[in-house]
Amino acid sequence: AAPAHSKVYQTIQETVSYIQSRCSLQPQVVMVLGSGLGPIADAVQDATVIPYGDIPHFHAPGVQGHPGRLVMGHFNGVPALVLQGRFHYYEGHPMEEVIFPIRVARFLGCHTAILTNAAGGINHDFHLGDLMLITDHLNLMTANPLRGPNPPELGGPRFLDLSEPYDRSFVQLLQREAQQLGFEDAMRTGTYAAVSGPTYETPAETRMLRAIGADAVGMSTVPEVIAARHVGVRVVGISCITNLACGISHDGQVAKVSHEEVMENINLGVEKMRQLLLAAVPKMAAQ
Ligand code: 6GU
Repeated sequence: AAPAHSKVYQTIQETVSYIQSRCSLQPQVVMVLGSGLGPIADAVQDATVIPYGDIPHFHAPGVQGHPGRLVMGHFNGVPALVLQGRFHYYEGHPMEEVIFPIRVARFLGCHTAILTNAAGGINHDFHLGDLMLITDHLNLMTANPLRGPNPPELGGPRFLDLSEPYDRSFVQLLQREAQQLGFEDAMRTGTYAAVSGPTYETPAETRMLRAIGADAVGMSTVPEVIAARHVGVRVVGISCITNLACGISHDGQVAKVSHEEVMENINLGVEKMRQLLLAAVPKMAAQ
């Protein structure tokens, strides 16, 4: 008998087959839209929209501000898979489920992943509504999504090189586009620290994160970056700075953080993010 495929690979194939049965488009780029950034999917033309609850092995969404829909269509002319909402580790999903959509995207044909999120600013120079191109990360989630068997059908290495996880030529391209769009002052670069959540940081934790080199902090993205690199997908990470992490206010007050504040302030960055992605995605797809 032919050797059976690994469970993970079978699961990926079931989901890929379902999505292909709903839409014949072969996407080149996958975009994950973080908290409050979902409206960017409105730019997709000839959209096929599938609620996560309808997709085998996906889950109905849990958190407010995370709609949970897959949108496939043309994004400024580029065949794209847009994921409105993600599965977070803090919700209790095993890492394998957190990274599952990225693996599905790869087997649908995506060679580039654009991962966006809302993040707390650690760097004193950052302002609310700034965008930060992630140039490096600190994985402080205390879990690694590649722990466990390395399914051979995925074709990824057991020990993954992460010397340059974020594509340097895409970072340069995005910086040029931000300049052309006239918001280079709000276009930052930096190191993203991923924590497990769901609690926000204490003042001491914020000081620690700054001391170890973090510019922004959030509860997502890093597992997806690792999973994408594992299967050879080029990665861009973009944070929208929605609040200042606890303890860093300039006036000496302890700054409180709330999900409501994050959802309100995302509006300061969402338009820049939309314009940036519309301008950059066709150029990225051509590279
Ligand atoms: Cl301040 N902290 C964390 N951990 N995640 C966030 C955030 C802060 N703001 C948005 N997401």
